[in-house]
Amino acid sequence: MSVNKEIKRITTETVRNMKFTGEKISMLTAYDFTIASLVDAAGTEVILVGDSAANVMAGHETTLPITLDQMIYHAQCVVRGAKRALVVVDLPFGTYQSDPQKALESSVRIMKESGAHAIKLEGGKEIEESIRRIVNAGIPVMGHLGLTPQSIYQFGSYKVRAKEDAEAEKLISDAKLLEELGCFSLVMEKIPADLAAKVTASVNIPTIGIGAGAGCDGQVLVVHDMLGLNNEFKPKFVRKYLNLEDQIHQAVGQYVADVKSGDFPNANEQY
Ligand code: KIV
Repeated sequence: MSVNKEIKRITTETVRNMKFTGEKISMLTAYDFTIASLVDAAGTEVILVGDSAANVMAGHETTLPITLDQMIYHAQCVVRGAKRALVVVDLPFGTYQSDPQKALESSVRIMKESGAHAIKLEGGKEIEESIRRIVNAGIPVMGHLGLTPQSIYQFGSYKVRAKEDAEAEKLISDAKLLEELGCFSLVMEKIPADLAAKVTASVNIPTIGIGAGAGCDGQVLVVHDMLGLNNEFKPKFVRKYLNLEDQIHQAVGQYVADVKSGDFPNANEQY
């Protein structure tokens, strides 16, 4: 009997259906081939090439400086590693807010030049026309509401959003608008768990939370955070599954000591 070893690709349809079957969606970020391959092989359904690459890959303080060309480069690397996962790429700051035509052109570049499967952008009503234009071109769109890091200078801090009624009501109406516009899913970042659960119950597209509680249809984390690559970053919503910062520090320290003492390479490690 022959076994079909072909890997079945996760699609936007798969992700949408998971809301109705009740299976939770797991999403993680990745920015390069090696991590994308590992995250993919371990079963994550969605890989996000987040603009958090500006922070964790490039060392910027905010996500604002990353360019479209840089996002496309990261997306190309991830696409080569992701054999099964749906690959979603963030539209970086300044490439979609000014006008719908620019938003479409930025999205088309990502899809054509990287081979990714969908784009993500931040905001609701204020970018309605851009979303309409991208969806009408046949490009799947993931929304992002709540703490939207590209607006950090407007917010002034990374505190929990939508704690007040007015912002919570706007978030609910933006979520419904994103569904109406044809977004296939929606990220909600750093908002009260009750509000996230309410939004999840009131839309027919899957919600994916980060710091938004257990009532979402799925969860996303930045891979560097969950692998413990930065001990200084410890917000309440991150669960660290490894402490790679300490492990790498120890391993590299040992390597340096071995080189200096002449222990590395030994007789078996040379030709
Ligand atoms: O850029 C990113 O990593 C994100 C996640 C935090 C959702 O947008």
